[in-house]
Amino acid sequence: MILEILIHQHILFALRMTNTERDYHGYTPMDYDADSEADEVYQMCLSYLLAHAPIESDDIVLDIGTGTGIVALELASKCDHVFGRDIYGEWLRYAREKAEQRGIENVSFGHGSFRDPNVDEPVDVIVASYALYMAFDEGGEDELRAAVDGLAALNPRCLVVADKMRFGQVQSPSEYETLPPMGTVANLLVEAGFTLTDIEIITESAGVIIATR
Ligand SMILES: C[S@@+](CC[C@H](N)C(=O)[O-])C[C@H]1O[C@@H](n2cnc3c(N)ncnc32)[C@H](O)[C@@H]1O
Repeated sequence: MILEILIHQHILFALRMTNTERDYHGYTPMDYDADSEADEVYQMCLSYLLAHAPIESDDIVLDIGTGTGIVALELASKCDHVFGRDIYGEWLRYAREKAEQRGIENVSFGHGSFRDPNVDEPVDVIVASYALYMAFDEGGEDELRAAVDGLAALNPRCLVVADKMRFGQVQSPSEYETLPPMGTVANLLVEAGFTLTDIEIITESAGVIIATR
């Protein structure tokens, strides 16, 4: 009887954890991977990032807001090591599982935020894919500035932002997130000491900015 109660409590706890974590993002990491695979605009941003990010074979790369590790795992073959950092433990665990399944050893996933990426080694290149817009959605320009400054403090040679942002005048009414204007992202990168070396408009609400020092 005691054992039954313990098992029941354990199941309730596990379900509660899962539901809480699902509520945070709305769906599972597997759902996210499937949606990303099917999202044409996301795939175009990813392709542009992979083709144009100036990454050398001996570079240390930080993928901030790595999520399920899609970008980190793609970049692993191009550089010495990728640090995938995120604030969401369930997705980091899933990213680790994928790395193990694919036998990719030069990627490590751990907790880290835009403001405090939690990487002690020198970083050559930072990539942020579909991630920094969340800072703007959460706290407007001030939060986005804090995010860019947190990343710039690592002193990377290059910061690649492949993200949702507004290239048009007004935000499409169908968007449920508040996207930063591209000009705001660009200004914050310049204020943080970067020069913009490439801007690719994918759609009115997504594109890639490559900023170098
Ligand atoms: C839409 S997902 C993108 C994931 C991945 N970069 C990709 O391209 O598939 C955004 C990710 O940013 C993470 N994120 C949100 N706020 C963050 C913060 N302050 N610091 C670090 N990561 C954050 C979320 O947890 C989520 O995993």
